[in-house]
Amino acid sequence: MNTLNHLAIIMDGNGRWAKQKGKMRTQGHRQGIHTVREITKWCAKNNLSHLTLYAFSTENWNRPKAEVDFLMKLLEKYLLQEKKTYQENNIQFRAIGNIEAFNSPLKNLIQNLQEDTQHNNALTQILALNYGSRDEIKRAFEKIIQTNTYQTNTNLSQLIEDNLDTKGIPDVDLLIRTGGEMRLSNFLLWQASYAELFFTPTLWPDFTPEELQKIIHDFKSRTRRFGSL
Ligand code: FPP
Repeated sequence: MNTLNHLAIIMDGNGRWAKQKGKMRTQGHRQGIHTVREITKWCAKNNLSHLTLYAFSTENWNRPKAEVDFLMKLLEKYLLQEKKTYQENNIQFRAIGNIEAFNSPLKNLIQNLQEDTQHNNALTQILALNYGSRDEIKRAFEKIIQTNTYQTNTNLSQLIEDNLDTKGIPDVDLLIRTGGEMRLSNFLLWQASYAELFFTPTLWPDFTPEELQKIIHDFKSRTRRFGSL
């Protein structure tokens, strides 16, 4: 039976959820926060070691300014208000992505929550913020070139991993995308090379720990070969 250490989720469908209910798209994102909290708590209670959530991609800046502004404010509010959820549930917070692009208050909130929760050890919840795999790999190469480490290093694969934002985080075991689309959208392309993939039509605000449990049950019975026989 497969062990699930690292679960990654592409949280899609907030906008459609809102539209179906005749609400503004922003209401869908607000409701999405509730699902983030429930799924994160469930993962902490059920012994997963890492949960990575795709919260804002490098491409999301192309959305209308009003929606981008709303998402930034929502993230700010989330980082402030959810601190107690992290502490009460012994959850460590970590961010991946190009955080430098955010404004200073947001950068500080991210930094502070990482520091305040660094000793928690039930689950590490990783938020992908201004994240794109190609951007991450490009930044890794920039770091490698700047530090000249490639000339002396014989394990190039390890060198790349050590310069990715996910340094020290195990590979993804299971990747779920909600909202019915069947693509990876520039998410964890290096880290999910051998992940089992699962696509569900359920819109993110409707996604529940019960559905997650069913998907994990399916994951456990799959045969993982990692390229061998
Ligand atoms: C996709 O829905 C979701 C996002 C753009 C980002 C996910 C954001 C949240 C769950 C809320 C914020 C989370 C945190 C942790 C602050 P969509 O807008 O693409 O939906 P659609 O495909 O139905 O339009």
